[in-house]
Amino acid sequence: MCGIVGVVGREAAAPRLLDALRRLEYRGYDSAGIATLTGGQIERRRAEGKLQNLGAVLEATPLDGTTGIGHTRWATHGAPIERNAHPHATLRVAVVHNGIFENYAELRTELEGKGYVFETETDTETFCKLVDWHLVQGMPPREAAASALSRVHGAFAVAIMFAGHPDMLVVGRHGAPLAVGYGEGEMFVGSDALALAPLTRRIAYLDEGDHAVLTPTEAHFFDAAGAPAQRAIRVSAVSGAAMGKGNYRHFMEKELHEHPAVLGDTLRQYLDPATLGVNLPNLPFDIREVPRLTITACGSAFLAGLVGRYWIEQLARIPVDADVASELRYRDPPLPEGGAALLISQSGETADNLAAMKMLRARGQKILSIVNVPESSMARESDATVLTVAGPEISVASTKAITAQLAVLACLAIGFGRARGTLSPEEAARLSTALLQVPEHAAAVLAQDAEICALAAEVAGARDVLFIGRGALYPIALEGALKLKEISYIHAEGYAAGEMKHGPIALIDSSVPVIALCPSGPLYEKTASNLQEAAARGGRIMAFTDAAGAPALRRFAERVVVLPDADPFSQPILHAIPVQLLAYHVAVLKGTDVDQPRNLAKSVTVE
Ligand code: AGP
Repeated sequence: MCGIVGVVGREAAAPRLLDALRRLEYRGYDSAGIATLTGGQIERRRAEGKLQNLGAVLEATPLDGTTGIGHTRWATHGAPIERNAHPHATLRVAVVHNGIFENYAELRTELEGKGYVFETETDTETFCKLVDWHLVQGMPPREAAASALSRVHGAFAVAIMFAGHPDMLVVGRHGAPLAVGYGEGEMFVGSDALALAPLTRRIAYLDEGDHAVLTPTEAHFFDAAGAPAQRAIRVSAVSGAAMGKGNYRHFMEKELHEHPAVLGDTLRQYLDPATLGVNLPNLPFDIREVPRLTITACGSAFLAGLVGRYWIEQLARIPVDADVASELRYRDPPLPEGGAALLISQSGETADNLAAMKMLRARGQKILSIVNVPESSMARESDATVLTVAGPEISVASTKAITAQLAVLACLAIGFGRARGTLSPEEAARLSTALLQVPEHAAAVLAQDAEICALAAEVAGARDVLFIGRGALYPIALEGALKLKEISYIHAEGYAAGEMKHGPIALIDSSVPVIALCPSGPLYEKTASNLQEAAARGGRIMAFTDAAGAPALRRFAERVVVLPDADPFSQPILHAIPVQLLAYHVAVLKGTDVDQPRNLAKSVTVE
């Protein structure tokens, strides 16, 4: 999604804004721009494509001024070309914007009626001209901005700069996050704490509907009703250290290799290796009384939630409904009195999740969220939060955050089961022991990198790929398909292995790799027979299994990768790693933009 930065500063604004934008690249974008006040006048530099293009423009035609705003654009309205890049400006005002103004068309017509001429197809230009119109009516900058903000609908965040007012920015949010940074005699604004980390770690977040005036020394907040408000300043946990790739080729490769450490860190938050007990976080509900749990998320986080459903139903005997947030929020499901909801998100800013949370809360459900960004909107708006300890995840494709979410879900399932008396202490201890072995198993899988890279070479030329699994490995098959799709652009589908006969087997021929998650365990025989059916029709079977499962599969599979022996309970966490690694290597072989795949954004803050 789009990234916003701004500064009311004491040093040259342009280089600081460009550096801050670089820390927002992970969100995905297709153009960028900066505007500063030079002699009180608005000056802009914009460029299509990556930030180095904007850097080249600034090199050729530098910008002066210590106050400015910057933006990385992920196109929603209008093609990703320079003309549509932010900041949008008139002589009086410049605007950068993240999100969507849903009623921009009617406002545009209204403004055209007042004589405004539009140069772009963007909703942002409409907002910019709306502020301009209020200025022309004689309103001072803050009031002009507040009036314009009261006219627009949608989920958005904005930063606004005014000609002739170098000591001021006005910022506002409605549905998309925005952080104010406190410097020494200067103030900043950014889409998240990551962007501001090199400038300051003293951060205050705008609440829903807030706007604020930034001067060099302070921020004056106004709440949704326009009344002065106070917003707490906190010290962000995000490091200002440059987020480098180290010796890795891509952030995704680096983050894949962080699995063992992240799993260990996350498990240690909730699992006591000495007593094998699970320390449940403070829950906003009594799990013994909850009649039903609703799990919702998007993308890979939802797939982790699907695994969580298997575990929580099996161990805690709670009925669990799981649905993607974009469906749940409109499906109007019957929700029980005293029910609870579990939302899962790496960024904590996904618009569909935030909207689903609002619906669930309005229907009396208590909200528990699993998030990776402590200062995110979801973390702040949930009744309780369980943090994954994955650290900043920069690659658009989510890897370490997903296995960390699985680790948290596994701990919650054990904790819920113990609290409800549906899981014996002995069985809980056995499952905890299995979980504690996962970081070591993850390291062992990563040591098989060369073998998985060889498998990738067999897959990279395919037009269609099928991933199949059973039970709690079925969502991991879906994850493998999603990862392959999103970073290599190869069409891939994940399927419940038992469903092959109900349609997908028609796809099978010698051009279709079938990636199977088929470790030994209660569902091994069934899955192996599904694979034999596919092999009998020429399908290219490539199986991830374990030592006990390998011999039988080797009789008909083209490739068999033997993973470490693991308890069926922890196998979904373990199998997520090789399918992500496989997708990574296929994408590298295909030469795609691994960390920022086309059309994708790290945090989907628009619907
Ligand atoms: C995962 O690789 C994708 N980038 C995407 O599906 C992602 O999981 C989804 O957009 C949810 O993001 P969130 O976890 O930040 O809410």
